[in-house]
Amino acid sequence: MARFHALRVVAVDRLTDDSVALTLAVPPELRQDYRHAPGQHLALRRTVDGREIRRTYSICSPAPDAEGPRELRVGVRLVEGGAFSTYALKEINVGDEVEVMTPAGRFTLRPAPGRYAAIVGGSGITPVLSIVSTLLEREPTARFCLIRGDRTTASTMFLDEVADLKDRYPERLQLVTVLSREEQQAGLPSGRLDRERLASLLPALLPVTEVAEWFLCGPFGLVQGAEQALRELGVPRARIHEEIFHVDSAAAPARPVPAPAHSTVTARLDGRGGTWPVEDGESLLETVLRNRPDAPYACKGGVCGTCRAFLVSGEVRMDRNFALEKEETEAGYVLACQSHPVTEKVELDFDR
Ligand code: FES
Repeated sequence: MARFHALRVVAVDRLTDDSVALTLAVPPELRQDYRHAPGQHLALRRTVDGREIRRTYSICSPAPDAEGPRELRVGVRLVEGGAFSTYALKEINVGDEVEVMTPAGRFTLRPAPGRYAAIVGGSGITPVLSIVSTLLEREPTARFCLIRGDRTTASTMFLDEVADLKDRYPERLQLVTVLSREEQQAGLPSGRLDRERLASLLPALLPVTEVAEWFLCGPFGLVQGAEQALRELGVPRARIHEEIFHVDSAAAPARPVPAPAHSTVTARLDGRGGTWPVEDGESLLETVLRNRPDAPYACKGGVCGTCRAFLVSGEVRMDRNFALEKEETEAGYVLACQSHPVTEKVELDFDR
Protein backbone atom coordinates (compact mmCIF):
# COMPACT_ATOMS: atom_id res chain seq x y z
CA MET A 1 0.00 0.00 0.00
CA ALA A 2 1.09 3.52 -0.75
CA ARG A 3 2.22 5.37 2.38
CA PHE A 4 3.67 8.80 3.08
CA HIS A 5 6.73 9.31 5.25
CA ALA A 6 8.67 12.46 6.06
CA LEU A 7 12.11 12.26 4.41
CA ARG A 8 14.94 14.71 4.93
CA VAL A 9 16.36 16.69 2.03
CA VAL A 10 20.14 16.18 1.92
CA ALA A 11 20.92 17.99 -1.34
CA VAL A 12 19.31 20.50 -3.66
CA ASP A 13 21.20 20.67 -6.97
CA ARG A 14 20.28 23.26 -9.53
CA LEU A 15 20.15 21.61 -12.95
CA THR A 16 18.98 24.51 -15.11
CA ASP A 17 17.43 27.93 -14.51
CA ASP A 18 14.08 26.28 -13.94
CA SER A 19 14.83 22.85 -12.51
CA VAL A 20 16.45 21.20 -9.51
CA ALA A 21 17.26 17.71 -8.34
CA LEU A 22 16.25 16.95 -4.75
CA THR A 23 18.09 14.21 -2.89
CA LEU A 24 16.18 12.67 0.02
CA ALA A 25 17.69 10.46 2.70
CA VAL A 26 15.92 7.19 3.42
CA PRO A 27 16.34 5.96 7.01
CA PRO A 28 17.29 2.27 7.41
CA GLU A 29 13.85 1.23 8.68
CA LEU A 30 12.19 2.59 5.52
CA ARG A 31 14.65 1.31 2.93
CA GLN A 32 12.45 -1.65 1.96
CA ASP A 33 9.41 0.62 1.59
CA TYR A 34 11.28 2.81 -0.91
CA ARG A 35 12.77 0.02 -3.01
CA HIS A 36 11.91 1.01 -6.54
CA ALA A 37 12.21 -0.17 -10.09
CA PRO A 38 14.01 2.07 -12.61
CA GLY A 39 11.45 4.51 -14.05
CA GLN A 40 9.12 4.77 -11.03
CA HIS A 41 8.05 8.02 -9.41
CA LEU A 42 7.32 9.50 -6.00
CA ALA A 43 4.38 11.65 -5.01
CA LEU A 44 5.36 14.58 -2.78
CA ARG A 45 2.78 16.42 -0.75
CA ARG A 46 2.42 19.60 1.24
CA THR A 47 -0.48 21.46 2.75
CA VAL A 48 -1.05 25.11 1.81
CA ASP A 49 -3.84 27.08 3.50
CA GLY A 50 -5.47 23.84 4.63
CA ARG A 51 -5.40 22.41 1.12
CA GLU A 52 -3.33 19.39 0.33
CA ILE A 53 -1.21 19.53 -2.81
CA ARG A 54 0.38 16.44 -4.34
CA ARG A 55 2.71 16.18 -7.29
CA THR A 56 4.57 13.24 -8.74
CA TYR A 57 8.23 13.44 -9.64
CA SER A 58 10.24 10.72 -11.29
CA ILE A 59 13.21 9.17 -9.57
CA CYS A 60 16.40 9.75 -11.56
CA SER A 61 18.74 7.66 -9.40
CA PRO A 62 19.43 4.04 -10.43
CA ALA A 63 17.32 1.27 -8.93
CA PRO A 64 18.71 0.11 -5.57
CA ASP A 65 19.89 -3.36 -4.59
CA ALA A 66 17.78 -5.73 -2.51
CA GLU A 67 18.35 -3.72 0.67
CA GLY A 68 16.61 -0.66 -0.73
CA PRO A 69 17.95 2.84 -1.36
CA ARG A 70 19.86 5.00 1.11
CA GLU A 71 18.93 8.03 -0.93
CA LEU A 72 16.39 8.94 -3.60
CA ARG A 73 16.92 11.66 -6.16
CA VAL A 74 14.08 13.27 -8.09
CA GLY A 75 14.05 15.92 -10.81
CA VAL A 76 11.67 18.88 -10.45
CA ARG A 77 11.05 21.36 -13.24
CA LEU A 78 9.27 24.63 -12.55
CA VAL A 79 5.76 24.74 -13.93
CA GLU A 80 4.41 28.24 -14.33
CA GLY A 81 2.15 28.93 -11.35
CA GLY A 82 2.85 25.41 -10.07
CA ALA A 83 2.24 25.32 -6.32
CA PHE A 84 4.63 22.49 -5.62
CA SER A 85 7.38 23.14 -8.15
CA THR A 86 7.65 26.81 -7.12
CA TYR A 87 8.08 25.69 -3.51
CA ALA A 88 10.65 23.05 -4.55
CA LEU A 89 12.71 25.52 -6.55
CA LYS A 90 12.52 28.53 -4.30
CA GLU A 91 11.94 27.33 -0.75
CA ILE A 92 13.17 23.82 -0.08
CA ASN A 93 16.54 23.75 1.66
CA VAL A 94 18.90 21.06 2.81
CA GLY A 95 17.68 19.82 6.20
CA ASP A 96 13.97 20.32 5.45
CA GLU A 97 11.57 17.41 5.66
CA VAL A 98 9.26 16.57 2.78
CA GLU A 99 6.36 14.14 2.84
CA VAL A 100 7.02 11.46 0.26
CA MET A 101 4.83 8.59 -0.90
CA THR A 102 6.31 5.17 -1.46
CA PRO A 103 7.30 4.59 -5.12
CA ALA A 104 4.68 3.87 -7.78
CA GLY A 105 4.36 3.69 -11.54
CA ARG A 106 4.61 1.08 -14.27
CA PHE A 107 6.91 2.92 -16.69
CA THR A 108 9.64 0.51 -15.69
CA LEU A 109 12.38 -1.67 -17.05
CA ARG A 110 13.38 -5.14 -15.94
CA PRO A 111 17.05 -5.28 -16.93
CA ALA A 112 17.88 -8.02 -19.45
CA PRO A 113 20.42 -8.35 -22.25
CA GLY A 114 19.42 -6.76 -25.55
CA ARG A 115 18.89 -3.47 -27.24
CA TYR A 116 16.77 -0.70 -25.72
CA ALA A 117 15.87 2.83 -26.72
CA ALA A 118 14.13 5.93 -25.42
CA ILE A 119 12.72 9.08 -26.96
CA VAL A 120 12.33 11.82 -24.38
CA GLY A 121 11.43 15.49 -24.35
CA GLY A 122 12.39 18.03 -21.67
CA SER A 123 11.96 16.70 -18.12
CA GLY A 124 10.99 13.32 -19.64
CA ILE A 125 14.68 12.46 -19.26
CA THR A 126 14.20 12.02 -15.48
CA PRO A 127 12.81 8.43 -15.27
CA VAL A 128 14.82 7.41 -18.34
CA LEU A 129 18.06 8.42 -16.60
CA SER A 130 17.24 5.85 -13.92
CA ILE A 131 16.35 3.26 -16.58
CA VAL A 132 19.54 3.79 -18.64
CA SER A 133 21.93 3.84 -15.71
CA THR A 134 20.38 0.76 -14.09
CA LEU A 135 20.41 -1.20 -17.35
CA LEU A 136 23.97 -0.37 -18.38
CA GLU A 137 25.30 -1.13 -14.91
CA ARG A 138 23.50 -4.44 -14.47
CA GLU A 139 23.58 -5.89 -17.98
CA PRO A 140 27.12 -5.86 -19.39
CA THR A 141 25.97 -6.61 -22.95
CA ALA A 142 22.84 -4.42 -23.13
CA ARG A 143 22.84 -1.37 -25.41
CA PHE A 144 20.77 1.78 -25.13
CA CYS A 145 19.96 4.47 -27.66
CA LEU A 146 18.80 7.69 -25.99
CA ILE A 147 17.20 10.31 -28.19
CA ARG A 148 16.41 13.48 -26.32
CA GLY A 149 14.83 16.71 -27.38
CA ASP A 150 14.96 20.07 -25.64
CA ARG A 151 14.92 23.76 -26.46
CA THR A 152 18.53 24.73 -25.80
CA THR A 153 21.61 23.31 -24.09
CA ALA A 154 20.99 25.63 -21.16
CA SER A 155 17.46 24.31 -20.66
CA THR A 156 18.49 20.64 -20.82
CA MET A 157 18.18 18.79 -17.50
CA PHE A 158 20.79 16.27 -16.33
CA LEU A 159 23.37 17.23 -18.98
CA ASP A 160 26.28 16.23 -16.75
CA GLU A 161 24.71 12.98 -15.60
CA VAL A 162 24.01 11.89 -19.17
CA ALA A 163 27.51 12.96 -20.30
CA ASP A 164 29.02 10.90 -17.43
CA LEU A 165 27.05 7.85 -18.57
CA LYS A 166 28.27 8.36 -22.12
CA ASP A 167 31.87 8.53 -20.82
CA ARG A 168 31.39 5.37 -18.79
CA TYR A 169 29.70 3.37 -21.52
CA PRO A 170 30.91 4.91 -24.80
CA GLU A 171 30.23 1.74 -26.81
CA ARG A 172 26.89 0.79 -25.34
CA LEU A 173 25.17 4.16 -24.96
CA GLN A 174 24.21 5.95 -28.14
CA LEU A 175 23.20 9.53 -27.42
CA VAL A 176 21.40 11.83 -29.82
CA THR A 177 20.34 15.31 -28.72
CA VAL A 178 17.99 17.38 -30.84
CA LEU A 179 17.61 21.04 -29.91
CA SER A 180 14.72 23.09 -31.23
CA ARG A 181 16.01 26.59 -30.56
CA GLU A 182 19.73 26.34 -30.95
CA GLU A 183 22.04 25.83 -33.86
CA GLN A 184 24.21 22.80 -33.35
CA GLN A 185 27.52 21.72 -34.80
CA ALA A 186 27.40 20.42 -38.33
CA GLY A 187 25.94 16.97 -38.62
CA LEU A 188 23.75 17.15 -35.54
CA PRO A 189 20.04 17.43 -36.12
CA SER A 190 18.08 20.41 -34.87
CA GLY A 191 14.37 21.11 -34.78
CA ARG A 192 11.53 19.31 -33.06
CA LEU A 193 11.13 15.61 -32.42
CA ASP A 194 7.82 15.21 -34.19
CA ARG A 195 6.43 12.19 -35.99
CA GLU A 196 7.83 12.99 -39.45
CA ARG A 197 11.25 13.82 -38.16
CA LEU A 198 11.44 10.66 -36.03
CA ALA A 199 10.19 8.48 -38.87
CA SER A 200 13.16 9.56 -40.99
CA LEU A 201 15.72 9.88 -38.17
CA LEU A 202 15.19 6.57 -36.36
CA PRO A 203 16.06 4.10 -39.16
CA ALA A 204 19.32 6.00 -39.71
CA LEU A 205 20.23 5.61 -36.05
CA LEU A 206 19.45 2.02 -35.17
CA PRO A 207 17.72 -1.18 -36.32
CA VAL A 208 14.31 -0.04 -35.10
CA THR A 209 12.53 -3.39 -35.01
CA GLU A 210 15.39 -5.10 -33.14
CA VAL A 211 14.83 -2.93 -30.08
CA ALA A 212 13.33 -5.04 -27.27
CA GLU A 213 11.65 -2.13 -25.47
CA TRP A 214 11.05 1.51 -26.28
CA PHE A 215 10.52 4.15 -23.57
CA LEU A 216 8.72 7.34 -24.56
CA CYS A 217 8.48 10.12 -22.01
CA GLY A 218 7.64 13.80 -22.14
CA PRO A 219 4.79 16.05 -23.19
CA PHE A 220 1.66 14.47 -24.68
CA GLY A 221 2.38 15.63 -28.25
CA LEU A 222 5.90 14.21 -28.28
CA VAL A 223 4.87 10.83 -26.87
CA GLN A 224 1.96 10.56 -29.28
CA GLY A 225 4.09 11.51 -32.30
CA ALA A 226 6.87 9.11 -31.28
CA GLU A 227 4.42 6.26 -30.86
CA GLN A 228 2.94 6.91 -34.31
CA ALA A 229 6.41 6.99 -35.86
CA LEU A 230 7.38 3.71 -34.21
CA ARG A 231 4.16 2.01 -35.27
CA GLU A 232 4.70 3.18 -38.85
CA LEU A 233 8.18 1.67 -38.70
CA GLY A 234 6.75 -1.69 -37.66
CA VAL A 235 7.27 -1.67 -33.88
CA PRO A 236 4.55 -3.67 -32.06
CA ARG A 237 2.57 -1.68 -29.45
CA ALA A 238 3.54 -4.17 -26.73
CA ARG A 239 7.20 -3.06 -26.99
CA ILE A 240 6.39 0.59 -26.35
CA HIS A 241 6.18 2.07 -22.83
CA GLU A 242 4.82 5.57 -22.39
CA GLU A 243 4.81 8.15 -19.65
CA ILE A 244 3.20 11.50 -20.27
CA PHE A 245 4.34 14.49 -18.23
CA HIS A 246 2.01 17.24 -19.39
CA VAL A 247 -1.32 17.06 -21.10
CA ASP A 248 -2.85 20.32 -22.15
CA SER A 249 -6.58 20.29 -21.73
CA ALA A 250 -7.15 21.16 -25.40
CA ALA A 251 -5.43 17.90 -26.38
CA ALA A 252 -7.69 15.89 -24.10
CA PRO A 253 -10.74 17.70 -22.79
CA ALA A 254 -12.40 16.06 -19.81
CA ARG A 255 -16.08 15.30 -20.36
CA PRO A 256 -18.46 15.75 -17.45
CA VAL A 257 -20.47 12.57 -17.00
CA PRO A 258 -23.72 12.66 -15.02
CA ALA A 259 -23.91 9.84 -12.48
CA PRO A 260 -27.09 7.76 -12.31
CA ALA A 261 -29.20 8.83 -9.34
CA HIS A 262 -28.36 7.07 -6.05
CA SER A 263 -25.26 5.33 -7.28
CA THR A 264 -22.92 3.94 -4.69
CA VAL A 265 -19.32 2.84 -4.70
CA THR A 266 -18.00 -0.01 -2.62
CA ALA A 267 -14.25 0.15 -2.22
CA ARG A 268 -11.68 -2.11 -0.66
CA LEU A 269 -8.53 -0.36 0.45
CA ASP A 270 -5.76 -1.73 2.61
CA GLY A 271 -7.88 -4.74 3.55
CA ARG A 272 -10.91 -2.71 4.70
CA GLY A 273 -14.04 -2.01 2.73
CA GLY A 274 -16.93 0.45 2.77
CA THR A 275 -19.88 1.56 0.66
CA TRP A 276 -20.68 5.23 0.07
CA PRO A 277 -23.07 7.28 -2.10
CA VAL A 278 -21.51 9.05 -5.11
CA GLU A 279 -22.38 12.73 -5.28
CA ASP A 280 -23.35 14.24 -8.58
CA GLY A 281 -20.41 14.91 -10.90
CA GLU A 282 -17.68 13.70 -8.57
CA SER A 283 -15.15 11.04 -9.51
CA LEU A 284 -15.10 7.74 -7.64
CA LEU A 285 -11.77 8.78 -6.14
CA GLU A 286 -13.43 11.86 -4.64
CA THR A 287 -16.21 9.74 -3.14
CA VAL A 288 -13.71 7.34 -1.65
CA LEU A 289 -11.45 10.15 -0.38
CA ARG A 290 -14.30 11.80 1.52
CA ASN A 291 -14.60 8.60 3.50
CA ARG A 292 -11.10 7.19 3.31
CA PRO A 293 -8.50 9.98 3.20
CA ASP A 294 -5.80 7.33 2.80
CA ALA A 295 -6.91 6.46 -0.77
CA PRO A 296 -3.92 6.69 -3.12
CA TYR A 297 -3.69 9.50 -5.66
CA ALA A 298 -1.26 12.10 -6.91
CA CYS A 299 -2.18 13.99 -10.10
CA LYS A 300 -5.98 13.61 -10.21
CA GLY A 301 -5.53 14.19 -13.94
CA GLY A 302 -5.42 10.67 -15.38
CA VAL A 303 -1.66 10.85 -15.94
CA CYS A 304 0.23 9.24 -13.06
CA GLY A 305 -1.69 6.01 -12.47
CA THR A 306 -1.39 6.20 -8.66
CA CYS A 307 -5.19 5.84 -8.22
CA ARG A 308 -5.38 2.60 -10.22
CA ALA A 309 -8.04 0.21 -8.92
CA PHE A 310 -9.58 -3.04 -10.07
CA LEU A 311 -13.22 -2.80 -11.12
CA VAL A 312 -14.76 -5.80 -9.37
CA SER A 313 -18.34 -5.17 -10.54
CA GLY A 314 -20.46 -2.53 -12.20
CA GLU A 315 -19.48 -0.22 -15.01
CA VAL A 316 -17.65 3.10 -15.05
CA ARG A 317 -16.82 5.71 -17.65
CA MET A 318 -13.39 7.32 -17.58
CA ASP A 319 -12.94 10.94 -18.63
CA ARG A 320 -9.42 10.35 -19.82
CA ASN A 321 -6.62 7.87 -19.38
CA PHE A 322 -2.97 8.57 -20.05
CA ALA A 323 -1.66 6.13 -17.46
CA LEU A 324 -3.07 2.66 -18.01
CA GLU A 325 -1.93 0.45 -20.85
CA LYS A 326 -4.54 -1.23 -23.03
CA GLU A 327 -3.81 -4.60 -21.37
CA GLU A 328 -4.56 -3.11 -17.96
CA THR A 329 -7.91 -1.64 -18.95
CA GLU A 330 -8.77 -4.92 -20.68
CA ALA A 331 -7.87 -6.78 -17.49
CA GLY A 332 -10.37 -4.60 -15.60
CA TYR A 333 -8.27 -1.80 -14.12
CA VAL A 334 -9.53 1.78 -14.02
CA LEU A 335 -8.24 5.16 -12.85
CA ALA A 336 -10.44 6.08 -9.88
CA CYS A 337 -9.71 9.81 -10.38
CA GLN A 338 -11.24 9.67 -13.87
CA SER A 339 -14.06 7.19 -13.24
CA HIS A 340 -17.74 7.98 -12.93
CA PRO A 341 -20.38 5.35 -12.30
CA VAL A 342 -22.51 4.19 -15.20
CA THR A 343 -24.33 1.55 -13.14
CA GLU A 344 -26.00 2.19 -9.79
CA LYS A 345 -23.50 0.02 -7.99
CA VAL A 346 -19.79 0.00 -8.59
CA GLU A 347 -17.21 -1.98 -6.69
CA LEU A 348 -13.50 -1.10 -6.70
CA ASP A 349 -10.54 -2.91 -5.21
CA PHE A 350 -7.47 -0.74 -4.60
CA ASP A 351 -5.54 -3.69 -3.17
CA ARG A 352 -5.40 -5.80 -6.34
S1 FES B 1 -4.31 10.29 -9.45
FE1 FES B 1 -2.98 10.34 -11.18
S2 FES B 1 -4.07 9.12 -12.62
FE2 FES B 1 -5.46 9.27 -10.96
